Amino acid sequence: MSKEIIVSGIRPTGNLHLGNYLGAVNNFVKMQHEHTCYFFIADYHSLTTHPNPADLHMNVKQVLVEYLACGLDPEACTLYIQSDLPQIPELYMMLNMHANLGELERVASFKEKARTQPNNINAGLLTYPVLMTADIIIHKATKVPVGKDQEQHLEMARTFGNRFNRVYQKEIFPEPYAFNYGNELIKIPGLQGGGKMSKSDGDGNVINLIDTPEVIRKKMSKAVTDTGPTEPNTPPSSPVQNLFDIMKLVSSEEKLTHYQSLYASCAIRYGDLKKDLAEDMIAYLQPIREKISDIQQNEELLRKVAKIGKEKAAESANQTLKECREAIGFRAF
Ligand code: TYM
Repeated sequence: MSKEIIVSGIRPTGNLHLGNYLGAVNNFVKMQHEHTCYFFIADYHSLTTHPNPADLHMNVKQVLVEYLACGLDPEACTLYIQSDLPQIPELYMMLNMHANLGELERVASFKEKARTQPNNINAGLLTYPVLMTADIIIHKATKVPVGKDQEQHLEMARTFGNRFNRVYQKEIFPEPYAFNYGNELIKIPGLQGGGKMSKSDGDGNVINLIDTPEVIRKKMSKAVTDTGPTEPNTPPSSPVQNLFDIMKLVSSEEKLTHYQSLYASCAIRYGDLKKDLAEDMIAYLQPIREKISDIQQNEELLRKVAKIGKEKAAESANQTLKECREAIGFRAF
């Protein structure tokens, strides 16, 4: 396989959850040894929600700790904090000059935010896909490991990168595509029967990487199901399918088949399934949880990782920006 340039990031909103891990970070860990990878903490993106400075700082640190605990190796990949790279907002500004209001207003994530937080529809929210484009193309990425929820943003990144090339008549940016090893992007469902696992629906909807066994058991005992199948071989309702989907990723195949056949014959007891799934989640996450508490204490390591990451990422970003400035006409006398 030829080497790709890979870029991806996560917003620091607290602790990473199982959706972040299965949708993105476990792919990062595999890719870092096969490709040229840039992974970052998207703290500029967090500013759309106006976090207080102390929380922001703590959340950035937490993602850095959890990236390392999940297995990101700062020697194999470039691991950095987005706000350490002022080259990104410079490219974002350049790209904004060619982003149209209409196309930004049509982005699904913007429409959703405008609906759910009508008192804070700021310009950063509107131009979020432009900032995300800058993140990706500043390193001339070709592949971007993300969950299914980011698909439309990737389409915008291709649009804005191509537009820049066309306007300035220079082939600076290749087209970036969403990527994961299974080829299909995944969506990890939440525990409350609805859509994706996401903190915005409350802590009870997510399993965090740092959740203790007691917390996981409690959350799983409250996971939404239904009143149970009454006819053999009826397809599961969406909350139950959600639990099967998670089971597919953290449990053995035999266990999944066992519960699926109990469901098909109407003999399933959801309480048993949820207890069993909770134990598998606990076992799956245990090595990560243990590493998190070790790394959290190691301030020296975190400082070193952030510093090296900043230097490595800046090298590639400076090179791209130089080409952009030249193409635009910002030239030395
Ligand atoms: P964010 O911070 O919401 O999520 C980080 C990553 O986790 C994935 N993810 C999921 N995947 C499957 N199922 C879920 N329930 C689930 N929840 C989260 C997301 O798809 C994402 O890959 N805008 C991005 C951050 C970002 C970025 C970038 C990503 C900023 N710049 C450049 C890639 C490239 C975001 O808000 O993801």
